[in-house]
Amino acid sequence: MSEIRNIVILTGAGISAESGIATFRRPGGLWEGHRVEDVCTPEALAADATLVHRFYDARRAALNHVAPNAAHVALARLDAAWTGELLIITQNVDDLHERAGTKRLLHMHGELRSALCGLCGIRTAWEGPLPPGAPCPDCGENALRPDIVFFGEMPYQMDRIEQALEHADLFVSIGTSGAVYPAAGFVRLAAHDGAETLELNLERSAGSDWFNETRLGPASVLVPAWVEEVIGAQAR
Ligand code: APR
Repeated sequence: MSEIRNIVILTGAGISAESGIATFRRPGGLWEGHRVEDVCTPEALAADATLVHRFYDARRAALNHVAPNAAHVALARLDAAWTGELLIITQNVDDLHERAGTKRLLHMHGELRSALCGLCGIRTAWEGPLPPGAPCPDCGENALRPDIVFFGEMPYQMDRIEQALEHADLFVSIGTSGAVYPAAGFVRLAAHDGAETLELNLERSAGSDWFNETRLGPASVLVPAWVEEVIGAQAR
């Protein structure tokens, strides 16, 4: 631990599960009652914008009824206390990391409380329902859509992410099934460049074999315990 200065953390739906936000890959394969390809692809948006917008409107509205859990709070504590480099990359589109106080955060799959102009690419903070064809505040075209990275689209800030992984001494994956690329490949990129790798998840994931260590259990228990270890090691 004493060798560690640069930490990169990847979080997934599992970290928000105990706050009451459903994970994606559950028995039955439906995500809040829908097939992913009906609500989370550019084709779905083109075919039925009303359905896609309504789906994300409901997810955005649900944020008003959830709160960060002990795992989000622990990562915010790490962010405040860690004097070395730190980047928390989340695949989640909820805002529970920032509501817990995390600052060094990157939303690689977009954000529910944001709208994206499908024409000029401007992102704008958004609360409440987002009707199809809402005008972009920048270019004025009626082209605002949910600011969600759909399957087949490029996640945000991949250059920054790859650079952070390259320089990481420790890569930690929390609450993700390792089923969706490019995030599922981060462990191998980090390990290739010499980082230690740790997985904290409820159950073994598709990527578990790639980690130096996997700890199994709920994020609300594993993450605070791990954060105390790391902060304790920094203090020594
Ligand atoms: N604590 C820790 N891990 C948990 C908990 C918990 N309380 N509850 C569930 N998990 C684990 C599950 O065992 C599973 O391995 O979290 C993981 C959640 O996996 P997914 O539902 O596949 O979510 P995620 O990996 O974030 O999905 C990646 O897929 O659909 C896309 O863009 C979407 O960002 C999402 C991406």
